[in-house]
Amino acid sequence: MDEEFVKILGIESSCDDTGAAVLNNHTLLSNIIAGQQVHKEYGGVVPELASRAHQQNIVPVVDVALNKAGIDKSDLHAIAFTKGPGLMGSLLVGGTFAKSMALALGIPLIEVNHMQGHILAHFIKTEGEPYNPPRFPFLCLTVSGGHTQIVLVEDYLKMQVLGQTLDDAAGEAFDKAAKIMGLPYPGGPLVDKLAREGDRSRFQFPAPHAPGLNFSFSGLKTSFLYLVRDETEKDNLFVSKFTADLCASFQHCVIGVLMEKLRMASEQTGIKEIAIAGGVSANSALRQTLKEEAKNMGWNIYIPKMEFCTDNAAMIAITGYYKYQKKEFAGASSVPSARYEF
Ligand code: KG4
Ligand code: ZN
Repeated sequence: MDEEFVKILGIESSCDDTGAAVLNNHTLLSNIIAGQQVHKEYGGVVPELASRAHQQNIVPVVDVALNKAGIDKSDLHAIAFTKGPGLMGSLLVGGTFAKSMALALGIPLIEVNHMQGHILAHFIKTEGEPYNPPRFPFLCLTVSGGHTQIVLVEDYLKMQVLGQTLDDAAGEAFDKAAKIMGLPYPGGPLVDKLAREGDRSRFQFPAPHAPGLNFSFSGLKTSFLYLVRDETEKDNLFVSKFTADLCASFQHCVIGVLMEKLRMASEQTGIKEIAIAGGVSANSALRQTLKEEAKNMGWNIYIPKMEFCTDNAAMIAITGYYKYQKKEFAGASSVPSARYEF
């Protein structure tokens, strides 16, 4: 590579967070995210409203990211954006903006797979903090609102999905359980918080079954729904009396399944370098369980910093950095893809 320092602007707009970040090689210069409160009252993301909010947020978010990084747009070497997977209307806003800006500046445009971004977030360097990225090959449990995957990561851009959910994603399961209890969207962080005060053995759910390294969470969601429905018929204060126990029991079941499959993947591949990524990797009980499991299994584990767990643009910029090194640039015909796979 000719340049010693490569400055990449990453743009993320796959769901309901508008993000822009600047990296100088691996080092983070800025990471700005604008969430969208508008979905709260609907109990989930409303695609049309998400696209409109991205449209409003994208210019100020990119502006603040450049300012905070202390650079001018003319200092950028490339622009990386989320091509997919995600909501088409949301992706179009970030993708069109990135394409226009790259064209105007005469610099390369780089397409990034959002799920690959979650994994490569482990390679972002934060000034003044220790830098211990995973060693190849490693396994990554990527758990978000839209995906649940176990990925074999052989190199920065060489990844293979070993197993994934056949129905709901782990984050989606958290959000749906929260909704059943009348908690606002997104429910995952709330379930995590409330579960800390709860008894995880109060309620039992049938362990979900899916073949091999795949997952299934829809049955668990249904048994949770039936429990709440049946018990509320007997006592309409059931949920408010047992919210913490319901959260703790549900969370315990989800984490149990995730850990079981991760153990299987490690045994099958012989790989003991284990990472987690995605929004659900922010879950405090999952992070704690992984630490305990690491001791039992002799794993080296990699847990992302909180700001890199949920959707962010720094993970898009770091993936862009590795693609920049390989000169994997997109042409003017680049378009988002709602079901983009790697
Ligand atoms: O990666 P992400 O920000 O967006 C997607 O790519 O989907 O993940 C969002 C998901 C949501 O389902 C949210 O409820 C869940 O991650 N989540 C959590 C926690 N923080 C976020 N789930 C459980 N515990 C948490 N602390
Ligand atoms: Zn995500």
